[in-house]
Amino acid sequence: MSFIGRDTKEGIFERFSSHVSQGKADFFRSVGIDFVFGKRTGPFVWDAAGSRRLINCHCNGGVFNLGHTNPGIVRVLVESLRELDIGNHHLVSEQRAMLAHRLAELMPGDISCTVFGVGGGESIDLAIKLARGYTGRSKVISAIGGYHGHTGLALAAGDEQYRSPFGASPPGFLQVPFNDIKVLTAEIDRDTAAVIFETVPATAGMPIADRNFFARAKAECARNGALLVIDEVQTGLGRTGSMWGIDHFDTVPDIMVIGKGLSGGIYPMTAACFNADLAAFFNDRPFIHVSTFGGAEVGCPVAMAVLDECSKPEFLEHVRTLSRIFAQGFSELKSRHPQILVGLRQLGLMMGIEMVNDSCGPVMSKACYDNGILSVYANNYPRVSQLLPPLIIDEALAYEIIERLDAALGDTAAFLGLV
Ligand SMILES: Cc1ncc(COP(=O)(O)O)c(C=O)c1O
Repeated sequence: MSFIGRDTKEGIFERFSSHVSQGKADFFRSVGIDFVFGKRTGPFVWDAAGSRRLINCHCNGGVFNLGHTNPGIVRVLVESLRELDIGNHHLVSEQRAMLAHRLAELMPGDISCTVFGVGGGESIDLAIKLARGYTGRSKVISAIGGYHGHTGLALAAGDEQYRSPFGASPPGFLQVPFNDIKVLTAEIDRDTAAVIFETVPATAGMPIADRNFFARAKAECARNGALLVIDEVQTGLGRTGSMWGIDHFDTVPDIMVIGKGLSGGIYPMTAACFNADLAAFFNDRPFIHVSTFGGAEVGCPVAMAVLDECSKPEFLEHVRTLSRIFAQGFSELKSRHPQILVGLRQLGLMMGIEMVNDSCGPVMSKACYDNGILSVYANNYPRVSQLLPPLIIDEALAYEIIERLDAALGDTAAFLGLV
C-alpha cells in the first residue's frame, strides 16, 4: 500500500485549502511554491507530482538531522511497534527509564532527570513551570525575537507577533535583547524565576552569542537565585558539531530542553532535563504534571537510537568537517556576491545566510526553491535565510548545496535589482 500519490497535486491543494488551511495554500500558490511533500529519503524530498526534487535545508529546524526515513531509525520503530504502544504515563516505565538514563549520560554537568513531552513547546512549558515552582517566583526573561513554541508559557516567552492576537499574555514575562549582558544583568532580580534563551535563536536570524555570554548569564542567575533555561530544540543533538550547542559556551544550564531531532523524524519526542535538586520539586507532587503521550513508550527506542547515532565521535567530527566546507564556501560566495551577501552566521551546521536587507530572505527562499533547495528565512529577521542541511549529507552534497546557493544568491540579487 502506498500513501503517497493517492490524489493529484491540484486535488491535494483543493482539499488542503478547504479542510486544513486556506491561508497556507493561497500563500504558497501566490509565491509559486506549489510543492507538496511526496517521496522522501535521506536529504531529499520529492514533490507529490514526482516532478521536482529538493535538498532539504530546512529540516523542520532539525527534525531531519539524520535525513528522511533513515533506514536504521525506521527499523527500530518497526521493531518497537511489534511490542510496545503508548504505555501509561501514570506508571513506572522501563522505556522512559532507559531513555532518561541515556540522556543523563549525555547531558552536560549534573543534569540527570527528564520529563518527556510530545512537542518542544510543551517541554518549554514544563521548564518554566518547574522554574516557577522551584523558585516560588514568577518573572521570566527571554530574548526579543526568540521563539520557544506555540503553547501557553512558551508562547508568552516568544515574540509578540505570535501572541498579540490572542489576548493578554500571562503576567511576569519580559523580553530583552539577546546577547546583551548589561541589560540582562539589570533585569535579573530577586523576583526572577528563569532566564530562557535559545542557544542560537533561529527565528531571530541566528545571532551567535559572545563566547562568555551564557556563562555570565548563568552567573547572574545564580547570584539572584534564578534558573537558566536553555532551549536546545534546534541546536541540540549534534547540529553544531558538539552534542549540545551550549557546549561551545562552557555553560551548564539549570534546565535544558530538547526536541525536534530526538524524534528521528518519525516519532514525536521532546524532553526537559534538569538536575536532581530541581527534580526534588516533583517528589511530593509526582502527578502534578502528566502528559498522556509525552515519552510514549513506542517512541523511546527511536529516541535512544537517535542519541546513539548523534553522540558518536565520528558523527560529530563529520558535522565539523561539513561546517568547515560551508565556512570556506561562504567566504568564496561573499566575494562573488558582495552586493547582497553580508556573510554566514554559523555554529557548526546551525547556519544563517545574512543578506543586505529584509526583502532578501523571502526572495531567497523562492530562489532556493527554484534552484532545488528547501530553505526558509528567519521570520523575525527576514534578511537572514536559515540553512540547516541534514547532518548526514556527504561532502559532495555540501559542495552541491553551495553551488546551488551561489545561483540562488545571483537570482535574488537580480530580482531585487542589487547587481
Ligand atoms: C527553538 C525552538 N524552541 C521550541 C520550539 C517549539 O517546538 P514544537 O513546535 O515542537 O512545539 C521550536 C519550534 O520550532 C523551536 O524552534
